[in-house]
Amino acid sequence: MAEEKLNVHLIDHPLIQHKLTLMRQKTTGTKDFRELLEEISMLMAYEITRNFPLKDVEIETPVAKCKGKMLAGKKVGVVPILRAGLGMLGGVVNMIPAARVGHVGLYRDPETLKPVEYYCKLPSDVAERMLIVVDPMLATGGSSSAALTLLKEKGAKSITLMCLVAAPEGIRLVNEEHPDVPIYVAAVDDHLNEKGYIVPGLGDAGDRIFGTL
Ligand code: URA
Repeated sequence: MAEEKLNVHLIDHPLIQHKLTLMRQKTTGTKDFRELLEEISMLMAYEITRNFPLKDVEIETPVAKCKGKMLAGKKVGVVPILRAGLGMLGGVVNMIPAARVGHVGLYRDPETLKPVEYYCKLPSDVAERMLIVVDPMLATGGSSSAALTLLKEKGAKSITLMCLVAAPEGIRLVNEEHPDVPIYVAAVDDHLNEKGYIVPGLGDAGDRIFGTL
């Protein structure tokens, strides 16, 4: 990528990089693709939550009383952007089982080419939660950015965007329109092609997750 400073965090753990390379291969079938995406999502959630605040608690083990640590910060909400975001949901909620889940669905209007909301269902206390929005492919950034705008309109105050693969174009757009939203990715690829696919990317993530190729 060029030298410009983008607000993006690359999670380049060796396990994630290895699994992502398997996902990219065109010979990887739906079952393996889905499992790998879930595993990577767990590992990314583990990294994203690294700085979550803790509080001291008094507990009693079968042997003795002692002090322990428990999560103390805001409660979490996970919001997959339909449909490919669903492929990352299981991994995140495996790591954060108490998280509430919202869903956002957007389609691109063929005339205006603008994203249009067709589904939005969020936890009622969305304003109090730290939202992790999940969408595997950050391509143009148009739908992710529109989803972030929608979530803010519904009251969200704290949002993190978690993607698997991003194009520089998508990061730039989300950074411009939502400078308050940190983006976490497992890879920043080269560019978008004329059909809007990330190059080299991994193809259509939704089709590969759901076997609708
Ligand atoms: N969405 C995908 O699933 N893949 C891309 O490469 C771009 C957008």
